[in-house]
Amino acid sequence: MLADETVDCHTLVIGSGGAGVRAAIEASCYGDTVLVSKTIAGKGGCTPMAEGGYNAVLREQDSCGIHEEDTLKGGAYLNDPELVTILVNESPQRMHDLLCWGAVFDFTENDVVAQRPFGGQQFPRTCYAGDRTGHEMMTTLMERLDSTNADVMQEFTVIELLKDDDSVIGAMALDERGNLILLKADSTILATGGTTKVYDISTNSASGTGDGFALGYRAGAELIDMEMIQFHPTGAVYPYDARGRLVTEAVRGEGGLLLNSLGERFMKKYDPERMELSTRDIVAQAIATEILEGRNTEHGGVFLDVTHLPREQIEERLPVMLEQFLKFGVDIRTTPMEVAPTAHHIMGGLRITPECRTTLPGLFACGEVSGGVHGANRLGGNALAETQVFGKRAGEFAGKSGTRDKRHDGTQVSSTLGHLEAFLSGSVNPALVRKELQQAMWEGAGIFRTASTLEKTLKTIDRLSGVELRAERPRNLAECCIVRNMCLTASLICRSALIRQESRGAHIRKDIPPPVWDAKNSPFGYTYISRVREGIERRGTGS
Ligand code: FUM
Repeated sequence: MLADETVDCHTLVIGSGGAGVRAAIEASCYGDTVLVSKTIAGKGGCTPMAEGGYNAVLREQDSCGIHEEDTLKGGAYLNDPELVTILVNESPQRMHDLLCWGAVFDFTENDVVAQRPFGGQQFPRTCYAGDRTGHEMMTTLMERLDSTNADVMQEFTVIELLKDDDSVIGAMALDERGNLILLKADSTILATGGTTKVYDISTNSASGTGDGFALGYRAGAELIDMEMIQFHPTGAVYPYDARGRLVTEAVRGEGGLLLNSLGERFMKKYDPERMELSTRDIVAQAIATEILEGRNTEHGGVFLDVTHLPREQIEERLPVMLEQFLKFGVDIRTTPMEVAPTAHHIMGGLRITPECRTTLPGLFACGEVSGGVHGANRLGGNALAETQVFGKRAGEFAGKSGTRDKRHDGTQVSSTLGHLEAFLSGSVNPALVRKELQQAMWEGAGIFRTASTLEKTLKTIDRLSGVELRAERPRNLAECCIVRNMCLTASLICRSALIRQESRGAHIRKDIPPPVWDAKNSPFGYTYISRVREGIERRGTGS
């Protein structure tokens, strides 16, 4: 087996969700840009599936200061404050870009962008296109990308970053027939999105397998806060095939009520002030508690009820929800939905600077694969904003970076080819490993964790990481590489969750007494993990 082809460019962007496409649009202003996508470009990431909205300060009564305060409080003060300042200040400009490029957001009667309330925010600042906001953004971004000189390589799976000593000089990818392609670049941007497909129940599209975390880790980059997994409070609970599918927070933003099987509006026990519009960590933990304590619905969830809202409001503002539930035989205008938490997002990821530089020269990261913006819990609507703000920054700073000597000695390519050959003679079906991994993660590294559930899960992951995965034919090699990445990313999540010996935001350690400090005064900072070190930063000690 040989590397078949080499592509050479100034900026390589890996991933075609909102962040990747925004990065490629920007990078193309500075030099040859190639965007590589493991799916049909613009179709596979989580952005096109994002329903609820995009947070931006657009009204005089609102302010970037308040958006910043909401984001830090919502993130249990684990966020990187510099990244948060950038997010809130640049999000309105990036919204403006989208509108100029033709995105059709909802407007009010007064002809200004409409905004709805989302959880944990003091002002209704979530802009939306009905409940298909991400789809509208992605369509716009893809059209804009088409008008640039960027080359798009679709259905290529990046399986390793290419290195020269410490620097990243591109990547290795498999095409759909299993041929190895070298992609050389002066700057490489990871925009591969999230990883909640390592869980059995997830809102993510099939592509949320955590490749970028694994690629970055193997190449030597440092990651932070990998234990911080967001469980979206409201996922569908039935039918079986639709389990975990997103039921947008916009339902609660529009006035939807959460009720347990006793008909109680239970959020009054958990957050009497903000009720259904509390932050996602609190609402998800509340729903999980109601279910665990037996106040669940017939299908194992709680009720999310919009039957009191005017029919036109549901039809106009929540058309996707209406249609989705009608397909399951439920008319949400007359019958409450049943929902339960579902793995949705990872707040942790590659450590980045405000210029989106990772700890490795030549490697940038943006969007969900990067860590630090959202701290211990993300506010709904901040992810779409993040894709645009940091996608643009990554594209700009990567594009402006100088050229690089891209020679490499071939050892890394030979070793990768060796791994691929081994898959062709392996014995275990990767689909079985994927399933077992997802179940183990759901059981042991879910909303509530303990050292013992995490250790048990890690044991399973270690065993699964050691099996000899089998690719029946070259075109199945990518699946083996992806499952290997899932195992590695799952291991980073569990190891980081063991390191953080406190409950904070989305990370609830049931085996550790609740903290005596409030989150703002926690002595702990980021967990960090790389091939050379892992641990937790202590605040105020400089370490
Ligand atoms: O609930 C939602 O519509 C999801 C939004 C988000 O994750 O930002």
